[in-house]
Amino acid sequence: MSVEVEVCPLDELPPGTVRIVQVGAITVGVYNCGGELYALEDRCTHDDGPLCEGDFDCEEKVAVCPRHGARFDITTGRALTLPAYIAVDTFPVGVRDDGVVVVNA
Ligand code: FES
Repeated sequence: MSVEVEVCPLDELPPGTVRIVQVGAITVGVYNCGGELYALEDRCTHDDGPLCEGDFDCEEKVAVCPRHGARFDITTGRALTLPAYIAVDTFPVGVRDDGVVVVNA
C-alpha cells in the first residue's frame, strides 16, 4: 500500500534547502535543488547514518553523509564515494495544491 505524505507548502522549501519528514515507517529528506524536487531515504547505506542531515551541494546534486563522508547523487540515490557503495532509496515527489508531497509506494 502506498503512503503519500504532505511535506510542507512549496514556499517553505525554497531552492537550496532540504526538509526531513516521516513517510510511513521511514524517514525521507526532500531537497529542492534549483526548483527540482528530489527525495532520498534519510539512512546511509554504509552504516545507517542520517544522510539527509549532512551537507549537500545543490549545484552538483550531491549529499554527503555526516557520519563517514560518503557522497550520494541526490537525483538517483547512487553512491558516488566510499565507504558507501549501495544506492539509497529515492521516492516520487511532486507538488499538489502548492504543497510538496512525497510517496512511498
Ligand atoms: S554511515 Fe554514512 S558514510 Fe558511514
